[in-house]
Amino acid sequence: MSRYIIRANGPLEGKINIGGAKNAALPILAATLMTSGEITLENIPDIKDVQVMLGILEHLGVSVERQEETVHLVIPENTGTEVPYGLAKNIRASNLLLGALLARRQRASVPLPGGCNIGSRPMDLHIKGFQVLGAEVTLEHGYVNARGQRLTGNKIYLDFPSVGATENIMMAACFAHGQTIIENAAKEPEIVDLANFLNAMGAKVRGAGTDVVKIRGVQELRPVNYAIIPDRIEAGTFMIAAAITRGRVTLENVISTHLQPLIAKLTEMGVEIREENGSLTVCGTECILPADIKTLPYPGFPTDLQSPMMALLSLAEGTSIIVENVFEYRLTLAEELRRMGAEIKVEGQTAFVQGVESLKGAKVRALDLRAGAALVLAGLAATGTTEVFEAELIERGYQRLDEKLRYLGADIEKVE
Ligand code: UD1
Repeated sequence: MSRYIIRANGPLEGKINIGGAKNAALPILAATLMTSGEITLENIPDIKDVQVMLGILEHLGVSVERQEETVHLVIPENTGTEVPYGLAKNIRASNLLLGALLARRQRASVPLPGGCNIGSRPMDLHIKGFQVLGAEVTLEHGYVNARGQRLTGNKIYLDFPSVGATENIMMAACFAHGQTIIENAAKEPEIVDLANFLNAMGAKVRGAGTDVVKIRGVQELRPVNYAIIPDRIEAGTFMIAAAITRGRVTLENVISTHLQPLIAKLTEMGVEIREENGSLTVCGTECILPADIKTLPYPGFPTDLQSPMMALLSLAEGTSIIVENVFEYRLTLAEELRRMGAEIKVEGQTAFVQGVESLKGAKVRALDLRAGAALVLAGLAATGTTEVFEAELIERGYQRLDEKLRYLGADIEKVE
C-alpha cells in the first residue's frame, strides 16, 4: 500500500512531456501475439497495467526487453493460449488477449477480467461478436474459453460502442474468411492506433475512427516496428491540474484533436488554451466558471476525465451538473471530495456540484485509477495537507505522476 502526501504549493508552472497512451499500448501489446518474430514498440508507458500485460506475454512465451519507453518483443511461432488468473485479475485489458489468441491460435482461455471497480463491465458484446464470427464461447470456472478453427466474416451490430469489444472483434476478424463489418463501433483514437498497427502488419482494416469498421481477412501478419500515440487522458489530467492550481503548464507530445472535448469545456470555464508547434499551453483563471458535462463515447466527453473535472468543478463559481453515462460507479468520487469540503449531491447518474471557495486537506482513498488522480489534483488546490491512500491504483495508468507534478512545482511525496 502506498499513499501520496500533498501540501498546497501554489500554481503549477513549466513544461511536461506526455507519455504513450495506456489504452493504445494494451491492445497493441495483445495484438503482437497475432504474428511471430521481432517487434519493437516505442512510446510504451512504464505503468502498472503495461507491466502486467508484459508479464502475461512472457508467460505465453514472448521474450520481452524494455529500454526506457521502447519495448522489444520476440514472439514465438506457437504462443501459449491460457492466461493465468494470478496475472489477469489485475487488469481489465487482459480480455483483449481473447481476440488476438482466437485469431492466431484458434483458441484462448482468459479469466473474466479484473481492473478498476467503476461499473459492472460485462463482456457480452465481446462474446456476441466472437460467436457471430463462428467461435464457440463458454464460461467455465471464471474463465472465458473461445474456440474457432476457421472464423468467417459476418456483420456485427454493437448495442453500445464498446471500446474493448470493437478492438477484440477487430483482432478476431483479421484472419477470418471474407469480410467482417462492425456497426456502431467505438471511435476512440486508440482504436485507430490499433487498426494502424494491424494494417502495418498487413491486415486489412478500414473505417477505424468511424462507426463502421470493415475487416477483410488475410492469411498472415508480419512483425513491424511501431510508435504509439500520446495519452490523451494523461494530457487531460495535467491540463486540469494547471487549471485547478491557476497555473501555466505547457504539454509536449500531444495530439490536440484528441483533446477537443476537454479543450472546449475548459475554454467555456474561462481557462486559456494555446496551441503552438504541436504543444498545448494551459493558463488557469482565478474565476473558474461552472459547466455541465455529459460523458459519452468518443468524440463525446471522456468518462476517464470526468473524475478530474469533478475536482475542478468543485472550485467553480456556481453550480455544475455532471451526467455519467458510461460507468455507473464513477460518481462515488463525490464522497471522497466531500471529505475535502466539496458540496456535491448525487442522484442516480447525475452529480450536482455546488462550487465552494476552497477545498480543505483530508485523508482520502483512491477508489479507482482516475478518481485517485482527481483527488491528487484536489489536494494540489486544497489548503493544508491531503493524503491519498491506495495510490498504487493511480500508478496503474500514470507514469511517475508524483515526479512529474514535483517537476512542475507541486509539493507531493509518495510514502510506501
Ligand atoms: C476502455 C478503456 C477505459 C475507458 C473506457 C470507456 C482500455 C484499456 N480501457 O475500457 O479506460 O474508461 O474504454 O472509454 O481501453 N459494456 C457492455 N458489454 C460489453 C462491454 C462493455 O455492456 O461487452 C459496457 C460497459 O459496462 C460500459 C460501457 O460498455 O458501461 C463502456 O465500456 P467499454 O467501452 O467496453 O470500456 P473498456 O473497453 O472496458
